[in-house]
Amino acid sequence: MPFDIGNILRPKNTILQRCQRDEGTKARLKYNPWYHHIDSQNGCRIQVDGREMLMMSSNDYLGLSNHPRVIQAGQEALQKWGSSTTGSRLANGSRSFHRDLEQQLAAFLGKEDAMVLSAGYLACMGAVSTFAEKGDLILVDRNVHSSLWSGILLSGANVERFAHNNPSDLQDILVTEDRDRPKMVVVEGVYSMEGHIAPLQELIEVCRPFNCFFVVDDAHGLGVLGDRGQGTVGYLDRTNDVDVICGSLSKSMASTGGFIAGSKTIIEYLRSHSKQTIFSAAISPTQAAAAKTSLDILQDEPEHRERLWENTRYYKRMLNQIGANIWESETPAVPIIVGNKERAYRIWKALMDEDIFTVISIPPGVPPGKDLIRTAVSAQHTFEDLERMVDVLKKSLKKV
Ligand SMILES: Cc1ncc(COP(=O)(O)O)c(C=O)c1O
Repeated sequence: MPFDIGNILRPKNTILQRCQRDEGTKARLKYNPWYHHIDSQNGCRIQVDGREMLMMSSNDYLGLSNHPRVIQAGQEALQKWGSSTTGSRLANGSRSFHRDLEQQLAAFLGKEDAMVLSAGYLACMGAVSTFAEKGDLILVDRNVHSSLWSGILLSGANVERFAHNNPSDLQDILVTEDRDRPKMVVVEGVYSMEGHIAPLQELIEVCRPFNCFFVVDDAHGLGVLGDRGQGTVGYLDRTNDVDVICGSLSKSMASTGGFIAGSKTIIEYLRSHSKQTIFSAAISPTQAAAAKTSLDILQDEPEHRERLWENTRYYKRMLNQIGANIWESETPAVPIIVGNKERAYRIWKALMDEDIFTVISIPPGVPPGKDLIRTAVSAQHTFEDLERMVDVLKKSLKKV
């Protein structure tokens, strides 16, 4: 190789080198467990690399993303409004359909007002970072979603983690803290990986003497829990005790985007201060229309939620019969805990080889030792789909 003086003089780009050497990326590319491109989809049937597969890992709990009313609403919105809002809500991006969706969502959740943002991640991040600031204390369930951790970091507040779904651990921390310090408590309504429901009544009782601002991310509770699908907070009758309900429109709501709901004061403060709103383009016409129509369907077609829960009970009964560890999931988000990443990979692969699409989650996405195959039930699954899944899983668990 000819001698190149430039190579010696050129300063090292260490960030580029970090990217080139990253072990996580090398392992991902070698084992290829994520980023599989789906070529077509019809409900729970998908095509991947020319193979028909059963989708067992989607968050389309109610199966509304293919609902004719949702598709029609999206098409009409595209025709009427075009493809983009081309600006942030604060500037040129606000449309009357945003206001309609927000008013409908707020009423549905039992809150005075709501804001819709362009991703659930941004909404949950903003629901924390907009209200907490340096000097405040945030008390957070250890297992919350990455979006909430991002909000905590951005806020600059101090943070204390309490044990997952453990009100007495929260209390032990609260009693040692300065009573006058502003405090925020951050939990999920339904935990996305575990499928656990937060014990909101007990958590709120523990917090009552300490005047905490209470934030619930209900991305996986909306549409799933409650007699109308209004989510965990309504289901547990704690609407007046929770200051902020945030979440995603990408699960039961068959769209993309996120929301934050609360009192008028809280949402007006958010409109003034949320960076995630002020500096990011508003959600598109088609996505807002899909979410709004899903909200209508939640209320006038209860059969989707009924079917979801029928499927969930049937699936869990079979999983219990084969001795699968489902981490005591209480909802349609059903993890299969397998304990380490090698095993998770091999079971996931065995399922893929039998044309069943699932997703693995390993630390830091889940606590150490909780490496899992994430499955989620949809209203669109048939009993035969679920039987097939359990049958293949049973063989895989035995083999690996
Ligand atoms: C609990 C929770 N919060 C927030 C989000 C972010 O939502 P989105 O995918 O709409 O950005 C997710 C999505 O994975 C989630 O599971």
